[in-house]
Amino acid sequence: MSDAPLPPERIPRASLAVIGGSGTFSSRFPEDLEDPAVRVLAKNLRFDTPYGPSPLFKLFSLSAAAGEEKLVLTVKMHGRRFGVTAADASRQVFWVFQQAGVKKILAEGGVGGANHLLELRDMVVPDDYIDLSLRRDVDLGGPYLGVMRRPVCSQLAQELIRAANAHARRHQDRRVFGRGVYAVTDGRHFESVAEVAMLRRLGADIVGMTMCPEVYLAREIGACYAGLYIVVNYGEGVIREWNHADLEQIFYEEARPVGRMLLEALRRTGEDQGCGCPDLRKPTLLVERPEE
Ligand code: HPA
Repeated sequence: MSDAPLPPERIPRASLAVIGGSGTFSSRFPEDLEDPAVRVLAKNLRFDTPYGPSPLFKLFSLSAAAGEEKLVLTVKMHGRRFGVTAADASRQVFWVFQQAGVKKILAEGGVGGANHLLELRDMVVPDDYIDLSLRRDVDLGGPYLGVMRRPVCSQLAQELIRAANAHARRHQDRRVFGRGVYAVTDGRHFESVAEVAMLRRLGADIVGMTMCPEVYLAREIGACYAGLYIVVNYGEGVIREWNHADLEQIFYEEARPVGRMLLEALRRTGEDQGCGCPDLRKPTLLVERPEE
């Protein structure tokens, strides 16, 4: 049943999570990949959260080497849906991840190319961002100061880059960029010509709507975060006018390849956080205390 939200006690434990975006939206992730190592354990899981009923989650297991079973929680379209603000959707998703004990989060999505070297279907694993969204107070209320020195987990990013490169080599169908700056806008519309020109001058390579607040929320729950983004359109004023047919074709054709890259990265991802990401969450000093 997808209507009645389950109480928080029913949130399953999982150390890994995948935030699906437009890259995999047109497929059922992970079932459609028909990977024998994958077993879907539960789907259509909606939970009560302090921020309203969550989006639907799926839980699957992925068997890896030596009989190891990894548990993965996944959600579609960054948890976003009509009638729920983007801020609430993100809080619901990350609150559920926090309860589940998620340690590593892989995200994916379609983005616009701001850098004129980027082609449609190129894959980018950004290592930084510029947050131009106007969302405020998108946190879970924890007493932390998030340090955004290394917003993306370099180990997790390496697994995405490796998986995307392996896929690209096998199919000779795309390029993979292991660094780049993701500019975050609110949408839901894309940007104007002047806005894209401004983003380029600011140093953006790609433009999308989701990396923030997700990087902040991942930091707040002490989880590692990395994202794999597919260029689905040129930013306005870059290269040439993009057309909706290209966008649509990428939407339908790339869902399985992107899904395979994610699964491949998950296979090689464990719980170990020797990367140091959790150390970039500091206690806030701004706690209200009565004066003596
Ligand atoms: N801008 C913002 N978000 C996007 C774009 C874009 O051009 N393409 C896909 N998501």
